[in-house]
Amino acid sequence: MANVILLCGSVFGTATLTADEIEATLDEAGHTVTRPDPQTIDDLLDEALEWLIVCTSSTGNGDVPDDLNPVYMSLLSEYPRITHLKYTVVALGDSSYENYCGGGLAVDAALADLGATQMAAPMKIDAQEVTEPESIAPDWVLSVINGTHEEAT
Ligand SMILES: Cc1cc2nc3c(=O)[nH]c(=O)nc-3n(C[C@H](O)[C@H](O)[C@H](O)COP(=O)(O)O)c2cc1C
Repeated sequence: MANVILLCGSVFGTATLTADEIEATLDEAGHTVTRPDPQTIDDLLDEALEWLIVCTSSTGNGDVPDDLNPVYMSLLSEYPRITHLKYTVVALGDSSYENYCGGGLAVDAALADLGATQMAAPMKIDAQEVTEPESIAPDWVLSVINGTHEEAT
């Protein structure tokens, strides 16, 4: 069973609700999930952690929401050692915006740059098509952690 840290970035609550459901699904499957509050870069440094799941929306022009932004900024400025982490990102966005899912993609790129291992390309969820991301993201995250996820080709 995996030891998972789950971080969330949300403005209006959709990503928070989605993260809540991801937590419940992983928990039910027997994984250990930590949801730090407040979220800081220190949460990622524990080498006993195997997995990082980030569930975030985008705001502004492809920006990271304020509640996750301190972690994102610390990734860019402090270069923490996080090579022990496997991770994936659930990126909520809206394809009517120019920088579609920009917040989630920015976090994904920062984690990869620091040597964390991307286990699946970000799951992009378009608010134009999906009104309840919490209904699809948890099973997807579970499949990534369980190693049964297959990337679309
Ligand atoms: C002011 C504002 C700016 C947004 N900017 C973007 C954006 O740049 N790119 C994107 O893909 N989605 C953007 N979105 C869409 C949100 O990311 C999307 O609706 C998401 O589901 C909201 O989740 P939340 O309630 O957790 O914040 C924006 C939404 C708002 C209201």
